[in-house]
Amino acid sequence: MLDNFRASLEDFKQFKKFDLIEDKIKFILNYAILAPSTHNSQPWLFRIVDYSCEIYKNPEKQLPEADVDGRDLYISLGCCIENLKIAASYFGIYKSTKYASKNNRNLVATIYFEINQVKFNEQYQKLLKAVVYRLNVRGLFSKKNLDNGDLSVLRKINNLGITVNFITDKTKLKKIADLTAKGLRLAHSKQDFKDEMSRWVNNNFSKRREGIPGYSLRMPNLFSIAFPLLIRRFNMGKKLSGLNYISMMSAPVVCVVSSKSDNPEGWLGVGQLSERIMLESYNRGLRTSIFVASIEIDDLYKEIQKLLGLKDRPQFVFCIGYMKLNQKYTPRLPLQDKLL
Ligand SMILES: Cc1cc2nc3c(=O)[nH]c(=O)nc-3n(C[C@H](O)[C@H](O)[C@H](O)COP(=O)(O)O)c2cc1C
Repeated sequence: MLDNFRASLEDFKQFKKFDLIEDKIKFILNYAILAPSTHNSQPWLFRIVDYSCEIYKNPEKQLPEADVDGRDLYISLGCCIENLKIAASYFGIYKSTKYASKNNRNLVATIYFEINQVKFNEQYQKLLKAVVYRLNVRGLFSKKNLDNGDLSVLRKINNLGITVNFITDKTKLKKIADLTAKGLRLAHSKQDFKDEMSRWVNNNFSKRREGIPGYSLRMPNLFSIAFPLLIRRFNMGKKLSGLNYISMMSAPVVCVVSSKSDNPEGWLGVGQLSERIMLESYNRGLRTSIFVASIEIDDLYKEIQKLLGLKDRPQFVFCIGYMKLNQKYTPRLPLQDKLL
């Protein structure tokens, strides 16, 4: 069921209420912040300047243990930019995107707008609906394969310099699930990682609007209260890696997204393309589940590279499949907190 915030964004006609460009951009930013982000850290900040919106990374939200290089932070920002572009395109005010140069500190990109269309661009309507409804699922996928037609539509989505492998071969899929499980076991053997993780999980009653709620990890209420402490004090690596392994193995497709450049520019591209694939999947009745342990921990990514015969650097992994689930949405901080 949609939470109040998402429900308020379901009615696209609300956009017509706004006359000032600043208010139009603010309205659109509400769709941008529905993007997935690592640990639900929401590492974005926005500054509206005339007919443009600057997007900044918030370095305070980088996860020094789980995301040493900032890859996941930039992928999250890429997802956010994709949502913003989809919303601005639908409402007919998208003009262009300029990516910031390296020496521009925390500025990541500037999106330019123009008032060129009175009508909404229906081509983007379904995608924008998916922005509102998408969520990162966790658990077992149904035993149902993807329709060949759906898979070929997803395969056609592309972005320069980014490659996507849709893995359906069970032997390869098992290897990636094994590497994910290994990554989690390694990560949970480090106290600093466990301390960091425990600060980003919330119990089911928490009013906190960043971090991962226990219910989205499919946790019962009482267990969700103990969970942060359990992570910190004990080694939950074996248990969690087992659950992640089973979940991945139940998926009919695992998607590995790789890029030529292993830097912020490449990661932003990976985020944009991955978000687009996840949204298009949603529109086909499919659900997606992200697992980055095999990418982030030690040199495990090299084994994925070898397995898939890739020259490019694997950056992001998610599963696609069917899942019957009536899960509450993960909250977001209000846009107001993200405006500079
Ligand atoms: C770069 C990135 C890495 C992520 N890694 C994982 C992961 O390894 N395991 C996981 O369960 N979720 C992962 N997630 C999903 C986030 O936890 C999720 O997007 C966030 O909690 C917000 O929830 P929502 O996507 O349902 O709105 C990742 C998301 C992003 C964007």
